[in-house]
Amino acid sequence: MDKKQESFLDLVIYQIYPRSFMDSNNDGIGDIRGIISKLDYICELGVNAIWLCPCYKSPNKDNGYDVADYREIMDEFGTMEDMRELIREMHSRGMKLIMDLVPNHTSDQHKWFVESKKSKDNPYSDYYYWFDKPINDWRASFGGSVWEYVPERNQYYLHSYTIGQPDLNWDNPKVVKEMQDVVDFWVDMGADGFRIDVIDQISKDFENGRNCFGPNLHKYINLLFGREKTAHLFTVGECWANDIEEIKRHIDADRNELSTLFQFDHLEAGRSEKFTPMEDSLCTVRDILVKWQTLTGQHGLLYSLFTDNHDNPPFISRAGNDKELRYESATCIATMFYLLKGVPFIYQGQEFGITSSSYDDMSYFDDVESFDMFNRLVKQGYSREEAVQKINFGGRDNARRPVPWSNGVGGGFSEAKTWIPLSTRVNEINLENDLASEKSIFRFYKDLLSLRKGSKAFINGEFAAVSKNEDKYFVFTRIFEDEKFTVVCNFECESDIDCTEFGTLVLSNYKDRFGTEKLFRPYEIAVYKG
Ligand code: GLC
Ligand code: CA
Repeated sequence: MDKKQESFLDLVIYQIYPRSFMDSNNDGIGDIRGIISKLDYICELGVNAIWLCPCYKSPNKDNGYDVADYREIMDEFGTMEDMRELIREMHSRGMKLIMDLVPNHTSDQHKWFVESKKSKDNPYSDYYYWFDKPINDWRASFGGSVWEYVPERNQYYLHSYTIGQPDLNWDNPKVVKEMQDVVDFWVDMGADGFRIDVIDQISKDFENGRNCFGPNLHKYINLLFGREKTAHLFTVGECWANDIEEIKRHIDADRNELSTLFQFDHLEAGRSEKFTPMEDSLCTVRDILVKWQTLTGQHGLLYSLFTDNHDNPPFISRAGNDKELRYESATCIATMFYLLKGVPFIYQGQEFGITSSSYDDMSYFDDVESFDMFNRLVKQGYSREEAVQKINFGGRDNARRPVPWSNGVGGGFSEAKTWIPLSTRVNEINLENDLASEKSIFRFYKDLLSLRKGSKAFINGEFAAVSKNEDKYFVFTRIFEDEKFTVVCNFECESDIDCTEFGTLVLSNYKDRFGTEKLFRPYEIAVYKG
């Protein structure tokens, strides 16, 4: 692996969705001062970087992914001064800041669009895609056509997401320059890297009917991140590529494009959408992880390790047991991901085992995608009850409910009515209860991350799978020079696994495991050094 990519292997990134993280002024909405108040907590977990979801000025049609000004902070989140303080406080703790860059679209309230839509001949007229007629029948991600009519221009503009998110026209060199300036602005502010929203869409492949992977994609990525000013940054692109050659074109070190990608193969796991449970989920996910660990190893690429984010509700509720074996499955999932080779990403609250809620009525939901999906499901013939259950399972709202910190009012998140209802399980699952429990998921995460950090084998070592596709468990080794670890993660049924050759036990999640006992109970894990 290239030296620069290799230097990112010791990052452990904590993702914050500011709206739902911590409310410092009791208006029901999380904010930057709330994040500052939790930095010591995040540090204690063993994290050394934060990916901050968009906190720019926005009318919130898509919760900040519709940016109205890339150089201003969203009113509800605080001020630029708060942001400066956050960056100072993070840097003084040795933590890196990964900003969320949204380059594919702006808000329709961004100055560029406000000007662009006024006429066909103004300085911003070609900042977006304008056509006299819709040139295709693409469907927008959150429903309806991607084309929206504007009488002032007597033309249509393209929006891959909501009507309030017009797609920028990157084929206009002025747009490229504007976005380079945005990146540089945040680098000057202190950003150490970027997570880039739907990076694969900034060049459209109209000819082949795709709003992504267009002919100039790599030229544009290179113009953003291959410059002297940006070459040192850690960059992770959200990208829907599942083909190794396609992936290499984004992250091969000598291309000066991105450091790594968020690939979704393991979350899609053979399904066309995320609202339907996967079959034999952990085995399927294991096979996909083995495939990508092997491929990225062979090609010297940096892999991203994640299960949850603001678009994908808690993995434990989708692939584990979030009821009586919540501790066991949360710790098993963490072990099977975060001891692999790559960059771990932990989504807020995942470190103490938050789960999805089950609400029975759409009034408890907020997200545009959820409402679009609900209407589609009902049209397809699902009853309203069934449709809500599917939204509980796969919708984005359950990834965005306020983080439950304590047994206090509003889960310790806020004393006010929260912008989206709290989890249905807030009195059972919160950080305070977790820390008070003998089976603390937070403490397990801490031990796991410190084990990882303390060993070259887990950071730099090669991965090799020991278990086979037909097994109901995952066993793999990580080896660096003379250091070797064997990681055993059993799934939902009991298994007999011969561990006699694996060495000394260094981590487990059942307190009565002493060594190499053969019987593995549901979601039992054991890590051996030898
Ligand atoms: C990405 C974001 C998602 C957002 C979309 C449009 O997929 O993760 O939250 O809605 O892009 O910006
Ligand atoms: Ca607030």
